[in-house]
Amino acid sequence: MYILLMGPPGAGKGTQAERMIEEYKIPHISTGDMFRAAVKKGTELGKEAKRYMDSGQLVPDAVTIGIVRESLANPECKNGFILDGFPRTLEQAQALDAILADLGIKLSGVINISVADEKLVGRVTGRRICKNCGSTYHVEFNPVKVDGICDKCTGALYQRDDDKESTVMKRLEVYHEQTRPLIEYYTQQGVYFAIKGDQPIDKVFSDINSSIKGMNHDNN
Ligand code: AP5
Ligand code: MG
Ligand code: ZN
Repeated sequence: MYILLMGPPGAGKGTQAERMIEEYKIPHISTGDMFRAAVKKGTELGKEAKRYMDSGQLVPDAVTIGIVRESLANPECKNGFILDGFPRTLEQAQALDAILADLGIKLSGVINISVADEKLVGRVTGRRICKNCGSTYHVEFNPVKVDGICDKCTGALYQRDDDKESTVMKRLEVYHEQTRPLIEYYTQQGVYFAIKGDQPIDKVFSDINSSIKGMNHDNN
């Protein structure tokens, strides 16, 4: 099962991917997570990516396409993956088509989680993440049981540097300009599945599972 998870900042891509990998036992590849890991390590890639992320801009296509090409070539991805937050530009989408053709992989489907902009700002600014295991929470919509501590592993929670309101507004603008047009691209490929993200987390997940059942998983 080869799936793309798309949607604006805060739509719930990471939240749903966490559940999907448990259910389907396939790798989760998130370009945002890869960039944040590189920032944490202080690599050259991290230093470059941070400049763009902190201002709400996209990291240049050449860099992003390179790391995705490398990840997908990993044998772990042979039997399936969930690609979260990639592609985000037409150039990335075309590059992905070429990468998948080389690997002999056909996309099972593109799941787009949509939520109105007004709701997204509160989702992103209220997000908290576990430093240790990466689980995602929300101060209001998905709170932890003990303040500041992850339910799953007791790790400390933190807020992403790019989750400030002003940066979120820029990220939304970039989404509408550069990423939203991909809906048309994948509709034309006949692999597009729309999911209403403005529902409880469990309901979004069950809608995703219904979409997955309706996909063509034949990869020949
Ligand atoms: P990335 O990390 O991908 O950020 P994003 O796309 O802006 O999306 P988010 O991770 O903010 O949101 P999400 O949809 O995962 O929501 P979540 O599940 O956490 O990218 C960051 C940056 O990296 C980019 O700005 C760019 O600079 C760079 N980058 C990444 N990919 C790139 C690419 N391909 N090309 C170039 N640059 C790239 O949920 C959000 C909150 O809402 C959480 O608190 C959650 O608990 C809550 N929530 C989730 N679902 C629900 C629900 N149904 N109801 C109520 N609350 C909910
Ligand atoms: Mg995410
Ligand atoms: Zn944790």
